[in-house]
Amino acid sequence: MDIRIVVGKLEEQADDVLIRFSEGKASEVLIEPSPVGCSAKYLLTVGLGEEAEVDLEVIREATGVALSSARGLKISSLSLALPSLDEFAIDAITQAMHEAILLATYSYSEFKKPSEAKLKLSSINIIVERKQLALAQKGFNRAATLIGGVTLARDLVNQPPNNLHPQALVDAAQKIAKSSHGTITLKVLDEAACAKLGMGSYLAVGAGSEFPSKFIHLTYTPKTKSKKSFAIVGKGITFDSGGLSLKPADAMMTMKCDMGGAAAVLGLFSVIATLAPKATVHGIIAAAENMPSGKAMRPGDIVTAMNGKTIEILNTDAEGRLTLADALCYAVTLEPTAVVDLATLTGACVVALGEEIASLMTNDENLAVELLAAADRAGEKLWEMPLPPRYKPLIESEVADLRNIATSRYGGSLTAGLFLQEFVGTTPWAHLDIAGPAFAERPLASYLAKGGTGYAVRTLAEWLTKLR
Ligand code: BES
Ligand code: ZN
Ligand code: ZN
Repeated sequence: MDIRIVVGKLEEQADDVLIRFSEGKASEVLIEPSPVGCSAKYLLTVGLGEEAEVDLEVIREATGVALSSARGLKISSLSLALPSLDEFAIDAITQAMHEAILLATYSYSEFKKPSEAKLKLSSINIIVERKQLALAQKGFNRAATLIGGVTLARDLVNQPPNNLHPQALVDAAQKIAKSSHGTITLKVLDEAACAKLGMGSYLAVGAGSEFPSKFIHLTYTPKTKSKKSFAIVGKGITFDSGGLSLKPADAMMTMKCDMGGAAAVLGLFSVIATLAPKATVHGIIAAAENMPSGKAMRPGDIVTAMNGKTIEILNTDAEGRLTLADALCYAVTLEPTAVVDLATLTGACVVALGEEIASLMTNDENLAVELLAAADRAGEKLWEMPLPPRYKPLIESEVADLRNIATSRYGGSLTAGLFLQEFVGTTPWAHLDIAGPAFAERPLASYLAKGGTGYAVRTLAEWLTKLR
C-alpha cells in the first residue's frame, strides 16, 4: 500500500475514486459516477456534520467510513481532499486522516491471507494545496510514527498465545534495542535473577507454565541529558487461563490479550527514538504465562514481594496484580519522576466503563491532569476513577499483609488499584486499567477492526513528547 501527500486539485487526480468531505450528516456517504472531464470512476462525498461539532475523532471516523465505502467499490486507487475546516491546523487534520488510513488498512495476516478487496487497494493520496504542503507533511509524518508503534502493539496482541510466550516478548524487545543505534538498552532478568531480587509475587504467577517467566527492562536515554525520568510498566501475561482458579471457556477465548500493556510499552519503545522525548524512559515488563499445573500457585499460598510485603493468594486469576507488584517495586528502585502502569487488569473495569474507555487511578493529581489531557489529544478515551482509602480494609488478609482479591465483590477495579498502590510507596504513579479498549471484540470505530488495538501507545507518545 502506497500512501502519500500529493499537491494538486482533487478533480485532476487520475485515481479510481475521488473522496471529498462535506457538511452533510456525519459519516453519511454519497457515491456518484465521476463528473464529465474527470478520469476517476466515482466521486464519493462523506459528511462530517456541522462544523461546530467536528473534532479530530470525527475526521478519523469519516476517513474510515470513506475507505470502507471505497473498498466496497473494488477499486485500486483513491484520492482524498482535505476537509476545509478553519478551526484546525493543517497538520492536525492530515495527522488524523493518516492515522485513520493506517489504522483502517491494518490487518493481521500471518496465518490467513487478507480478503481480496483489501489486497486490491494499492494507492491512497491525500491531496493538498502547495501552501499547505509543509504542515501537511508534518502531520502525515507524525501519524506514520505513532501508528508504527500502534501497529507493532496490535501485531503482538494478535499473535496466538502458542507463539507469543514470554521469550517472544524478550525477542521483540531485543529487536527494538538492536535497531535503536544505542539510544535504547535492554536488560533481561531470568527467573533466578528475579528470585535474587525477591520477586516472589511475580514468580508465583509463571510457576505453572512450561514457558519460563522473563523480566524485561528497556531504557531510552535522550540525546541531551535530562533530570526527568519515567518508568512505564506493562502487564505482560501472554495467556491468562486463570490458573487453578480456571476461567470458564468463554472468558478464556480472548485472554491472549492479557499482554496488551506490555504490547503498548514495546509499541512505544519501537518509535521512541523518533519521538525523542526529553526524558529518560524505562519500559518494564514482568512477562509470564498463567497456567494450571502441579507446579502452579494455589489459592491459599502466601508469597513475598520485592518490598517485603506478604500476599495471600486467594484467586490465581487475579494474577496481573501479583506480577505488577514486583514490577512496580522494581520501577520505584530506579527513582523515576513518575511511574505509569498499563494493565488489562480487571473485568470489573469493563463492566464500569465499557469496551472503549480505560480507567486511570493515581496518587498524584498533576499526573492525572497530564495523562487525561494527553489521552484527549491522542483520541484515546480515558476516565479517572478514585483510590478510596476507606476500601483498603477489603484487601487486608488475616494471615498476610494483603490478599490478592477483595472481600467484597463490588468495586473490583478500585480494589485492584488499591492493591497496586501498596507497591509504589510515595513515588508519583498512575495506573491505567486498559482491559476494555486493549482488545476489541467488535470494531471500535470505522477505522479500528476487531482484535488488538494498541491502546495507550498514542497517549503515552503524546504525554512524553509534550512534557513541560
Ligand atoms: N486478565 C484478567 C482481566 C480481564 C478481563 C482482561 C476481561 C481483559 C478482559 C484478569 O487477570 C482477571 O482475570 N481478573 C479477574 C480478577 C478477579 C479474580 C478479582 C476478573 O476481572 O475477573
Ligand atoms: Zn486473571
Ligand atoms: Zn490477567
